[in-house]
Amino acid sequence: MDTYKIPVITIDGPSASGKGTVAQLVAKKLGFHYLDSGSLYRLVALKTMQTHTDIHNTEQLAEIARNLDVVFKNEDIYLDGSIVTDAIRAEQCGSLASQLAAHPQVREALTERQRAFCQPPGLVTDGRDMGSVIFPEAILKIFLTASAEVRAQRRYKQLIEKGIDANIADLLQDIQKRDERDSNRSIAPLRQDADAKLLDTTSLTISQAQDAVLSWYNEIHAINPRLNMK
Ligand code: DC
Repeated sequence: MDTYKIPVITIDGPSASGKGTVAQLVAKKLGFHYLDSGSLYRLVALKTMQTHTDIHNTEQLAEIARNLDVVFKNEDIYLDGSIVTDAIRAEQCGSLASQLAAHPQVREALTERQRAFCQPPGLVTDGRDMGSVIFPEAILKIFLTASAEVRAQRRYKQLIEKGIDANIADLLQDIQKRDERDSNRSIAPLRQDADAKLLDTTSLTISQAQDAVLSWYNEIHAINPRLNMK
């Protein structure tokens, strides 16, 4: 199958920017598959913690990434048969994921697993390097961001709504630290690619951000209607 006939929309951007929410809504609207690539890095982090693996042992980390026994079913994620949907959202998991993601061997081990999500009628995916490395031929690439302060507030609201205690100053510090690590690593750093459209959501609602993505997609689709194989 020529995977590049399948339309792929990539939404890359920093942590807590809301890219996952927007990507999921767009996927639902278009009837496309959805891949949250960050969840794979978070799963590697969780398994690393569970198995007390040395976080500097890149061979063993890559082995974990290659052999992840993961199932995405409806809204839930299963690791080795257990639901870990909420467990991987913990800040500790995100922070370790960001450290492990700096290892080229770990990224390499997850590459094919990510590409396998490219199935008809299309895919919407979010992460850091979806447009630049994993799906370079994507028909629409977006760099979705917001100021660090707004992202900290959004993350705070999300955690409080889930009944999890949080502190805005700590969240802001964590976001800034993660941005710096994700942006400055030598392999697949977080950055806006020349062919990606910038979507700054600092003063946009989720619905306005979703509409912006859909209107870009519709423009491309109008030029090449054969893109959608539904
Ligand atoms: O999107 P997220 O916050 O769930 O991702 C967790 C970490 O995983 C993030 O800090 C960096 C890493 N990551 C990555 O390096 N490449 C991706 N495509 C997705 C996530």
